[in-house]
Amino acid sequence: MSLSKDDEKRLSAEAAMQYVKDGDVVGVGTGSTVAFFIDALAARRHDIAGAVSSSEQSTERLRAHGIHVMDLNAVGTVPVYVDGADECDPHNRLIKGGGAALTREKIIAEAAERFVCVIDAAKQVDVLGRFPLPIEVIPMARSLVGRAIVRLGGQPAWREGVVTDNGNWIIDVHNLRIADPVDLENRLNQIPGVVSVGLFARRPADVVIVAGKTR
Ligand code: 5RP
Repeated sequence: MSLSKDDEKRLSAEAAMQYVKDGDVVGVGTGSTVAFFIDALAARRHDIAGAVSSSEQSTERLRAHGIHVMDLNAVGTVPVYVDGADECDPHNRLIKGGGAALTREKIIAEAAERFVCVIDAAKQVDVLGRFPLPIEVIPMARSLVGRAIVRLGGQPAWREGVVTDNGNWIIDVHNLRIADPVDLENRLNQIPGVVSVGLFARRPADVVIVAGKTR
């Protein structure tokens, strides 16, 4: 019998536990796959120093399990960061931000010694861009950033009604075939008003676990 998407997510999340060592501060991403990870982490809450969280949603789930949530500023380097993704290419470069938590996710990924990405098989692609690329923007810059995206060949769509944990808005960029993810990440980052880009190419994942198997 084939595995459901949720089974694949759970298996990946549980397999990520092997990268969590006693005494670690664990970076925790956001999303349905990470929810399985938080549930697995709960069994080891007394062995770890605590968690650094990438969203209010994950913080709530961590605290509900009695896991100590720490401020990144008080922690410095994070030994391991576990997070999901919306797409993953063969070089472990990712599109993230389907859950609008990309900015804090990117900050923790940057602070992490090891970034473990946990996904189901459908997230694997040869070239990034089928999933609309999320960009967090300062609200007053929404249409300015949108026009710049059109000039880069993308089709921007405002995720209306969504306000990020940082009080900003999300633009999803459709119709991009991202041949050079690092270059596009750099270009988008230079548009005034862009807070962060859901391309994790400059800092890709170190380890990718697909349906429970490290690839
Ligand atoms: C949130 C994210 C998530 O990791 C991404 O959307 C995948 O989510 P899920 O595990 O629910 O499929 O980037 O901002």
